[in-house]
Amino acid sequence: MRISVIGVGYLGAVHAAALAELGHDVTGLDIDPDRVAALQAGNAPFHEPGFADLLVQGLASGRLRFTTDYADIADAEVHFLGLGTPQRTDGHGADLSHLEAAVEALAAVLPARSGARTLVVGKSTVPAGTARSLAARLSAVDGVSLLWNPEFLREGFAVRDSLSPDRIIYGLADPVAPGAAEQVALLDAVYERILALGMPRLVMDFETAELVKVSANAFLATKISFINAIAEVCETVGGDVTQIARAIGMDERIGSRFLRAGIGFGGGCLPKDLRAFLASAEERGVGEALSFLHEIDAINQRRRTRVVDLAAEMLGGLQGRRITVLGAAFKPDSDDIRDSPALEVAERLLLAGAQVRITDPAALLATARRLPTAEVEPDLASALRGAELVVLATEWQQYRDLDPDWAASLVRARRILDGRNVLAPQEWREAGWEIRALGRASTADTVSTAAPASTADTARTPGSEPRRLQPV
Ligand code: UGA
Repeated sequence: MRISVIGVGYLGAVHAAALAELGHDVTGLDIDPDRVAALQAGNAPFHEPGFADLLVQGLASGRLRFTTDYADIADAEVHFLGLGTPQRTDGHGADLSHLEAAVEALAAVLPARSGARTLVVGKSTVPAGTARSLAARLSAVDGVSLLWNPEFLREGFAVRDSLSPDRIIYGLADPVAPGAAEQVALLDAVYERILALGMPRLVMDFETAELVKVSANAFLATKISFINAIAEVCETVGGDVTQIARAIGMDERIGSRFLRAGIGFGGGCLPKDLRAFLASAEERGVGEALSFLHEIDAINQRRRTRVVDLAAEMLGGLQGRRITVLGAAFKPDSDDIRDSPALEVAERLLLAGAQVRITDPAALLATARRLPTAEVEPDLASALRGAELVVLATEWQQYRDLDPDWAASLVRARRILDGRNVLAPQEWREAGWEIRALGRASTADTVSTAAPASTADTARTPGSEPRRLQPV
């Protein structure tokens, strides 16, 4: 099928390459000529495992290309909208201006197709009501229908999540109206190869589809802040939050994933989606129902403060002290520093007068632009050399695997603050380190043999089925 993807940022670029991989003829469009030129030359503009290969394969197959010109996509049968909906500069709501401008520009080139149907498919995360108002704008063009098909991909797993999603959501203006089945069939044809694998596909109305996406992100944020709130309690009354997470996660109703306590969530989605959800509920007069999300946000912000306080406690003051921060990206396997907890901690340490050196396998370029006063060092050994405190802020595999004896040979003082609860405290103590972690008062003060809880977010499916007693 001939398909266009409008907006080839993170979401759109991966979606376009995935659609080409599925056998479609895809044109990605963006108003940013540098981004289009980079993609067209086969250069991935961001770090995402597997994406560069998919991009190069798509271009080589002749099924994938990029443009800045709307005229080049006018004859596509399906147009995906992959535009960003960042937080507004004047408040907490979502800025829909990119999405609205793209719909206007698309409507201006769409030919009126008599008989043939054209589908416009929104993938961006938007407040409920957005799809219905965009559909009204498109209603002037004959034969065009809008569907809302929210995207759930995670950075670091974007290719896998695009080709093998947990579920596919179709939001329609009216799922039982005449013509709805035809729209569904057209989108089914796009996802034919994914649906053939048995992925669940749910059809619902616009508002439900929009709310599925924001509810999913709000729930994930709530889960993380819940365990981080327990971490706060542990820090005062004692206890080890990683053991609590492991134990409560064994209850299938709770589940162990997204219960990793640490410096909290960041990135371009969870924090801003949480605030936009709350802002739109407040605007619609149901703010009280979601007022708990204020607290979810506040717990998350407090974690960042806690790391800075703990660093000051460990060093007896921050002024002039040499601190190495391991990680700048908001999560591993990404070079994205948007609302990164690691970077905010580094920035606050700098502001408090510390000499901060940051290392990260992928995000240093962006870091140097954001924090020009921080020292950035790509080489791990050089980054550790002379440190009086090491702060593990993003759990890249190489930091999880850090050898305490090797690190001890480089630093000036053996102090480490594990902001992601990924190190085994006992091992580090045995190598002569003072190690502190978030929500692990017990392990900070007493000897514990417990390894960190295994709640890594790498799998799509929960672990093996628990054994059950056979009925007698
Ligand atoms: C998130 C959602 O997980 C995706 O499903 C969604 O499609 C995406 O937002 C989006 O709306 O576009 P992403 O931003 O890539 O994906 O990152 P997550 O994997 O959700 O992680 C978000 C943050 O939470 C990271 O800073 C991570 O370190 C932190 N986190 C995650 C924790 O602190 N603890 C955990 O247990 C899990």
